[in-house]
Amino acid sequence: MTEPLLTLRVARKQAATDRICTLELEALPGQTLPPFTPGAHLELQLGEGLVRQYSLVNAPSERGLYRLGVLLDPQSRGGSRAVHEHVQAGQTLQVRGPRNHFALEPSARHHLLLAGGIGITPLLSMAQHLAHPEQQAAGARFSLHYAARSRAQAAYLERLAEPDLAARVQHHFDDGPPEQRLDLSALLARPDAGTHVYVCGPQGFIEATLAAARQAGWPEAQLHYEYFGATVQAQAGDRGFEIELARSGKTVWVAPDCSAADALTAAGVPLMTACLQGVCGTCLTPVLSGQPEHRDAYLSAEEKAANQQFLPCCSRAVSERLVLDL
Ligand code: FES
Repeated sequence: MTEPLLTLRVARKQAATDRICTLELEALPGQTLPPFTPGAHLELQLGEGLVRQYSLVNAPSERGLYRLGVLLDPQSRGGSRAVHEHVQAGQTLQVRGPRNHFALEPSARHHLLLAGGIGITPLLSMAQHLAHPEQQAAGARFSLHYAARSRAQAAYLERLAEPDLAARVQHHFDDGPPEQRLDLSALLARPDAGTHVYVCGPQGFIEATLAAARQAGWPEAQLHYEYFGATVQAQAGDRGFEIELARSGKTVWVAPDCSAADALTAAGVPLMTACLQGVCGTCLTPVLSGQPEHRDAYLSAEEKAANQQFLPCCSRAVSERLVLDL
């Protein structure tokens, strides 16, 4: 079920770097903000069907405020450009959430947080939460590695330098001396049963981290990741396939150059979508039979292998027909 839309006021908008802006959202008078957990995101309605998800940067204990960090993507299909160019302090925004697909594992003895670029946003929320005196008293342990092109392009450095975080943070700048660069193979060389790894950032950064972790033998259940800016592209050799809608018995053809979500929508099948990049999970649909070809960054490796659900905004089919519970 879709959560209700919240109307929030933009209390402040500030530049965190020359390409990242911070939005602070607050409730309207007489209302309160729903609480959130570290790693959560909000879905912003940016007008004309433009819906985008952005991670919360602040600590969940900082009540009364949602803080978001938004990178201006040069490839922007409208979302980050709308935030950077049109959203202003004082206006209201329609928002859904908070939702969390990137939660901390409560049983972990140590949390290893790896941020690439704008991926710092959910990991900073996690770090602040874990550094909170209550969490520290409960034995929370963490370290944060933050990789960025340069110091100038790294956001939230002042917060990361505060005493509760500084000793647990290591910075890695691409333009810095070689010895401070992030060596993922060395960092992840020894899997540890009590440690959970959390990675967020550009696709290449996440894939490199997961590859290093898997190579070293980290169990899948200890790897947590959230993509930003994943790309969904048609691939050479894409074939058409049929979708059968189990509830109506109707059949929809998905042409090689068309997404399953577009084909379903064109056939009048109601389907909720948001990111259209296989990232947010909004279009998650149960599969009754057939084999999907998963191209999303949302389902875990186990969920993909189970083939019981798929994301029609980006995924396709290996089999000639998928039967969906629609
Ligand atoms: S719309 Fe976001 S995963 Fe499909």
